[in-house]
Amino acid sequence: MINTPLHKYASVACDVLSPEAYAYIVGGAGREGCIARNEGGWSEILLSPEPMQDMTGLSSAISIQGTKVDFPCFVAPMAFQKLAHPEGERAMAVGAASQGAGFVLSCQTSVAPAEVAAGPFWFQLYLQNDPVATVSLVQTAIASGASALIVTIDAPVNGIRNREQEAGFVLPEGIRPVLMDGLPIPAKPTDPVVSRGQTAPVWDDLARLCRHSPIPVFGKGVMSVETGKRALDAGCAGLIVSNHGGRVLDGLPATASVLPSIRRAFAEATLLVDGGIRCGEDMFRAIALGADAVLVGRPVYFALALDGARGVATCLRRLRDEFLATMILCGTPTVADITADHLYRNA
Ligand code: GLV
Repeated sequence: MINTPLHKYASVACDVLSPEAYAYIVGGAGREGCIARNEGGWSEILLSPEPMQDMTGLSSAISIQGTKVDFPCFVAPMAFQKLAHPEGERAMAVGAASQGAGFVLSCQTSVAPAEVAAGPFWFQLYLQNDPVATVSLVQTAIASGASALIVTIDAPVNGIRNREQEAGFVLPEGIRPVLMDGLPIPAKPTDPVVSRGQTAPVWDDLARLCRHSPIPVFGKGVMSVETGKRALDAGCAGLIVSNHGGRVLDGLPATASVLPSIRRAFAEATLLVDGGIRCGEDMFRAIALGADAVLVGRPVYFALALDGARGVATCLRRLRDEFLATMILCGTPTVADITADHLYRNA
């Protein structure tokens, strides 16, 4: 597979996906302003290199809540990866493991977690209406090797995704959220939207999960200091600054815009960020703004469509190499050396 810059994966993969699946993956909420802001948010941040440093100890490896990765990058949780490739999440996990990247399995996985075991993984979870269903998902994930839970707090319902709706996306025959098999099925409400709203999870539900979880819980979807505080008060071990890749509310700011204030408010918290990371320099910018690691979504989903596990590996290797090159060019031998001092400030 060609070694494509990450921002070009969508246009390269467009032809190998059905128009409906492509719309589902590439699209976002409303007029997709948030998607554009996410990507633009990173490129607006300028760098201030410190050349001629001693780089003999060069390494991009980090350890985060007990998970070791060769560079500070996780594959973001994304649903139904069989849409892109017959081996779905299994191939994604193999590709991520081959490059020493972390992997977050979506609870809307189309492959059973036990079949995805390419290495340690984190498990993304939506708190279910029925607490028994939530516990069942958590138990399955932990039994399959999950070492952290990523609870999505920003999407009790899907955003209004014009592109996806216009394309008429529905799950094709044979692709389904396999973990939902056997879970209690709620009675069909007369008004599904109102019912979903009325039963949306609240902070106490997250606190209960944190109290009982034997593995660390992260809150994903933090876009303000107040939300971060609520998540940490609920017992989260860390926060993921995220606007769901622009898929929930079109009117949200770029994650790059809110990350600095959240880091300032929680100096010690484990903090990850996603949304529009498209190159190694973006990774560097995110870390200089205070993130411990980033998550990457759409480019690896498209890479999976192009060439399965090998495609994912090619994409992530490029990202790792770009990140290392940025570290060398900026004079930061380790990830811990990357600080706000490496950001350009117009005096
Ligand atoms: C699910 O989380 C989605 O954004 O489609």
